[in-house]
Amino acid sequence: MVAQELDLTALRRVYGRAGSRWFYTRVARNARHWGWTEPGQSKWRLWRAQRQLQDVLGHKLALPAGSRVLDAGCGAGVVARAMATRFGLLVTGVDVLDFHLAEARRLSARAALADRTDFHWGDYHELPFPDGGLDGGFDGGFDGAYSMETLVHSYHPARALAEFHRVLRPGGRLVLLGPMSTGPVDQLPAPARALLEPYLDAMAMGGALLYHAGTLPQLLAGAGFEVEESLDATPYYLPTTEAVHAYFRLPWELLRRLGDPARWLNLRSTVEMYAVREHIAWYVHTAVKPPR
Ligand SMILES: C[S@@+](CC[C@H](N)C(=O)[O-])C[C@H]1O[C@@H](n2cnc3c(N)ncnc32)[C@H](O)[C@@H]1O
Repeated sequence: MVAQELDLTALRRVYGRAGSRWFYTRVARNARHWGWTEPGQSKWRLWRAQRQLQDVLGHKLALPAGSRVLDAGCGAGVVARAMATRFGLLVTGVDVLDFHLAEARRLSARAALADRTDFHWGDYHELPFPDGGLDGGFDGGFDGAYSMETLVHSYHPARALAEFHRVLRPGGRLVLLGPMSTGPVDQLPAPARALLEPYLDAMAMGGALLYHAGTLPQLLAGAGFEVEESLDATPYYLPTTEAVHAYFRLPWELLRRLGDPARWLNLRSTVEMYAVREHIAWYVHTAVKPPR
């Protein structure tokens, strides 16, 4: 059943459990995203892959230093800090989980980046910022916006994209990175559906039922964007999928047998989704709000 509105309880369950928080903080060094591996590189270096994925985002944004950028679903702010330090951007993050925002602020203060990153409570379907295209708006609006693996949580993707369009200045750039189904989930082979559907439900990833690789460009166009590029980046993501599966398969088996499996939802999904990887595509979409 796809949520029609913000389901904070489900998101808290996904990200707030002690096991998840430990995993993201200790293992993923606060990042809550996959990685990008170039052909010929070792798949085992997950932190390098994460850095490279952040760099792909910075290059696709292609904005001059000092540009103002929205991070929709900022988590603990790892991506925001990467954009600030490596690309000179001024980043405003929004998220709906208070403990992610607290972590983001704490880590930015510790990195002396509080003047270049700021974090607000906000649902990206209803952004707490004025229109970017109107006179008297937010300094003329954001120059860029991005979502790193967050649109998959959307309960209304078209509304989220319309909000990104609204707060961008004319000519502003949008980059969406993340996983999606290769086609409509209800048309996948039955064994794949049997694994994927409970997973999407448990992980509050209803967005994956509302768009897929074939429809996201249309949704972007429908929100008023010019789609510059729809890059199927699956080959760059797949090495991370393989490495994560290999690293965590045994720990998950042990926890499943000895502990409370519900506490390790993210670990479980990371391992179990390996079986349906051929039905999951990873895309980088780059789009522009047309200049006036
Ligand atoms: C997979 S995490 C990615 C976090 C961050 N982008 C990163 O890469 O580390 C997804 C994030 O999106 C946030 N999120 C989910 N739905 C949201 C919404 N409607 N508005 C704002 N943030 C949302 C979650 O709370 C979570 O922090």
